[in-house]
Amino acid sequence: MNSKMIRMAVVGNPIAHSLSPNLFNHWANEYNLNISYKRIFTNDVEDAINLSSNLRIDYLNVTAPFKNQFFKFAEKRDLSSYVYFAVNFFNCKNKSAFNFDAIGLSSILSKNNISLKEKKILIIGAGDTASLIIDFIKQFKNNEISIYNRTINKAKKLSHIKRVNFIEKIDNTSGFDVIFSTIPDFREMINQSTIRKDAIVIDLNYSIKKNDDFQFKYFDGLHWLIYQAMPVMIMLYQTLPHFDETYNYLSEINNLPKNNQITLIGFSGSGKSSIGKELANRMNFDLYDTDEIIENYTGLEIPLIFEKYGVDYFRNLEAKVLEYFAEYKNVIIATGGGIIENQKSINILKNYNDVIYIYSDLEQSLSRINIDSKPILKNSNNAEIENLFTQRSDKYFEVCNSIIYNNHDIDETIKLIYENYR
Ligand code: S3P
Repeated sequence: MNSKMIRMAVVGNPIAHSLSPNLFNHWANEYNLNISYKRIFTNDVEDAINLSSNLRIDYLNVTAPFKNQFFKFAEKRDLSSYVYFAVNFFNCKNKSAFNFDAIGLSSILSKNNISLKEKKILIIGAGDTASLIIDFIKQFKNNEISIYNRTINKAKKLSHIKRVNFIEKIDNTSGFDVIFSTIPDFREMINQSTIRKDAIVIDLNYSIKKNDDFQFKYFDGLHWLIYQAMPVMIMLYQTLPHFDETYNYLSEINNLPKNNQITLIGFSGSGKSSIGKELANRMNFDLYDTDEIIENYTGLEIPLIFEKYGVDYFRNLEAKVLEYFAEYKNVIIATGGGIIENQKSINILKNYNDVIYIYSDLEQSLSRINIDSKPILKNSNNAEIENLFTQRSDKYFEVCNSIIYNNHDIDETIKLIYENYR
């Protein structure tokens, strides 16, 4: 594996449960590629683009609700993003935008010999994805498209714009040949026992497992997820991944229980402790702060620990604390900014489930702290601090699963994380 490391991330909201990182990191392993793939929590596209530039992220996958907004930020666009007025892949370096969603849908259809021509089609949901599916389907001639949504007015509006049927209430779905669902659980909206045996359900949600009482042909959202990601692999690595192998891998991941543990990492002053406190409060989790635990254990304040026992002693204690909390559930762990300076801690963090990198610009971070209480920073000049910031950024990036830009309002940051894990 000697190719240049490519940094990628998926941007969306909510995004905590996106399987894109699992997908790409798996392909990186399978095909021996140097990819590091993360999630970005954000509610602002411009922030996400700035964060990507600060962290030298090369490519972004874009998901709801930002697909349309990225279109505006792009400087170049592929044909498909023009057609659908939406972007799902973005090259941060040259700001070019792509949309591989339609290719993903086409692949599901063609690989499974499904034709939409002259079919009666039901789309459940009335958001951006439903809109993309309508535009996509219209290229297959003579079909009849109907949309159905819990919020009736939204469906009415979309049906009007796209000139398709709109259904207010469905008791029986036996009239439909193909059903697309863009909502979390289609079974809450339609009576699945009325779906015809020879009908096809294409679900965009990937949390529902194929079930024995699905008498119809069912494609879960992993199909779309995998097929829309394949063009990226072809474009960047001229590699066509194996569908079945990937599907089997992701279906297993999908079933793993969550361990409800969130770990916050980042530079001094990035906001870890304040975010940790409030987050723990809201989520009703316990908060453990590695700095505090070590102070309590030694009975000394951090500058004194450094003075008396040295930096290695402190770093080893940090690793011990991480090791100790590995199995803890329903906890938030706030870590010291230097925790990633120790290889043992890095290895432990890599096995933690949800490690969130709290990123704030250096200037902003320094404005939040009292430098005298930070032994490493206190003894460094500006150039050294800048250097430390850059070097550590790479390490935080390496061990985290998700990144959040905490440059503005800390309450917004807390809310964003909270809503992702609720
Ligand atoms: C340190 C950061 C501090 C604290 C100790 C060492 C560092 O944590 O663990 O002073 O090496 O940068 P904060 O991130 O809470 O400042």
